[in-house]
Amino acid sequence: MLDINKIRGDFPILHRKVNGKPLVYFDNAATSQTPKIVIDTIVDYYSNYNANIHRGVHTLSQEATNAYEAARKKIQDHFNAAKSYEIILTSGTTHGINMVATGFADLLENEDEIIVSALEHHSNIVPWQMLCEKTGAILKVIPMSDEGCLDLEAYKKLLTEKTKLVFVNHVSNALGTINPIKKIIDMAHEHGAAVLIDGAQATPHIKPDVQELDCEFYTCSAHKLCGPTGVGMIYGKEEWLHKLPPYQGGGEMISEVTFEKTTYADLPHKFEAGTPNIAGVIAFGAALDYMNKIGFDRIAAYENELLEYATEKLLTIEGMKLYGTAHEKAAVISFNIEGIHPYDIGSIVDKLGIAVRTGHHCAQPIMDYYNIPGTVRASFSFYNTKEEIDLFIEAVVRAKSMLI
Ligand code: ALA
Repeated sequence: MLDINKIRGDFPILHRKVNGKPLVYFDNAATSQTPKIVIDTIVDYYSNYNANIHRGVHTLSQEATNAYEAARKKIQDHFNAAKSYEIILTSGTTHGINMVATGFADLLENEDEIIVSALEHHSNIVPWQMLCEKTGAILKVIPMSDEGCLDLEAYKKLLTEKTKLVFVNHVSNALGTINPIKKIIDMAHEHGAAVLIDGAQATPHIKPDVQELDCEFYTCSAHKLCGPTGVGMIYGKEEWLHKLPPYQGGGEMISEVTFEKTTYADLPHKFEAGTPNIAGVIAFGAALDYMNKIGFDRIAAYENELLEYATEKLLTIEGMKLYGTAHEKAAVISFNIEGIHPYDIGSIVDKLGIAVRTGHHCAQPIMDYYNIPGTVRASFSFYNTKEEIDLFIEAVVRAKSMLI
């Protein structure tokens, strides 16, 4: 059992009011909230050892470098990467995906094939379309079912000897479906294709083991994991990080520079040009410590309880239509009420202090599949409660009565 009161005490923002009502924060799939220990880590960095890393012999620079590299090690341990230099620190999931997509322009040939899924966020669609435009590669899509599940039989048929890459999210941000990524990875490998997993929505609920998954790349963002915005990581298998060219040129990523020729630094620095978000990375490490202390198994079990409770209650509202009814789901509920625009529900519940996301959730192809402009999305975290869900249900019922 989680001590929710104690956990809620760790998050200063959960005690504020919005529009005169206690905040109910159900937009965790967009950004999770930040515990005080993570906020304190950022304040401590800027108050006590703010300096650039890997560059100075002076004490502050060494302290900052040590803390930054200690955070990389924490991230390595969390994802069970074999080597710390297989963890590349980024500005977030989008950065990680673009790093691979841009690099693959050098590795693909005309008419090579790459596969994405129908459940992707725009950040796992657009970079591959850009890559296809540049290289002449062909983009194929694993179709989805009404429940919001991927059709693995269709996927099997899409895989050919021309498939070079497969990109799938671990959990759908719009529907919450947990995809069978181990199966997807194994099937891709049978055809010699590399796999990138977008873990942005999975990592708040699941602790992935990249060696067990055997994926070539796995990427995520700290801000979904109780960490700050503007920070993330991409894991890459060493051999693939060697194959990919650097993403950006600049300081820190070189071995030697002359006007005739530049040689690149070893991993991970080859992919970390420029001064990174040092405080953010150190705080990312603190956020992982915080969540691991609570335990991902306990977090997932509790969030599942919230998901079941909210699903059952929402379904008692007449005209309710849920999108994404997969058996395996993270704590995300997408819905509409017949005859009401999702934006109107979102605006009214906000007046009652409740934060949800409305719209297409950067996943327009999913909305097109259902032929809707968007949904209301409530996404839960381990600091949410059933009492908050009751307030949310009341608010939705009230919104409905005002709008119909
Ligand atoms: N990708 C984030 C979401 O789903 C922003 O809300």
